[in-house]
Amino acid sequence: MDLPRSFTIRESSHRILNPFTPEKLATLGAAIGLRPGATVLDLCCGKGELLCTWSRDHGIAGTGVDISTVFLAAARERAAELGVGERVRFTHGDASTYVAGEPVDVAACVGATWIGGGTAGTVALLERSLRPGGTMLIGEVFWRAEPPSQEAVEACHATSRDDFGTLPGLFEVFDGLGYDVVEMVLADEDSWDRYYAAQWRNLRTWLDANPDDELAPELRAELSREPMRYVRFRRHLLGWGVFALMKR
Ligand SMILES: C[S@@+](CC[C@H](N)C(=O)[O-])C[C@H]1O[C@@H](n2cnc3c(N)ncnc32)[C@H](O)[C@@H]1O
Repeated sequence: MDLPRSFTIRESSHRILNPFTPEKLATLGAAIGLRPGATVLDLCCGKGELLCTWSRDHGIAGTGVDISTVFLAAARERAAELGVGERVRFTHGDASTYVAGEPVDVAACVGATWIGGGTAGTVALLERSLRPGGTMLIGEVFWRAEPPSQEAVEACHATSRDDFGTLPGLFEVFDGLGYDVVEMVLADEDSWDRYYAAQWRNLRTWLDANPDDELAPELRAELSREPMRYVRFRRHLLGWGVFALMKR
């Protein structure tokens, strides 16, 4: 079980695999009041930047779970680079069934709520690992504005307008699940650019170096198509944020 290679090519230069800058990630870590020794579970941890930098900055201990062996190797390298390899560990596996051995102080799934079949299912999954009174972090996408056409919907990687909610709609979901939203940090257009525009350069660099690779035609087509779709639709239509939740 591993992530398709196209993802690791597209996100080769990224440390954060979401529309968050290092500053926004640090803002979130500071905002939720992490204490030294607090335990954090990060499902779909990617390259582990959340755990590694929060361990460096706040002294947390944590476990990251991800399906990508390439991203996990980068996560372990980053942990060693930041001197936190003793406090954070990374596990290869399917996060959709992962439950922590001991309840954790913070349970996170940042930008991968498909593992629970959507927001509510991911909240239920994280709940199984979270201690009473702990903080849950959900990174989720939402519409900032009504998509004007099916073309716009598909440019935002949705199949239907109803695939995503609105920001108030997300708050209603959290409320209905019995959670208070106690903090949030939202992406903005500049942080979306750091996520998407950086992918175009990664694709172009890789295509120049690997013109005969079997993935080259597909990734060439993507690079020809996606930047325009992004500036026409995704950049102003799609919102994204990480929401900190506490059970009432
Ligand atoms: C959008 S990235 C977010 C990564 C990370 N949370 C971050 O913000 O940098 C989604 C991640 O989910 C991982 N993933 C996808 N399906 C998974 C699964 N079933 N189990 C574990 N990881 C999965 C991918 O490998 C990828 O690292």
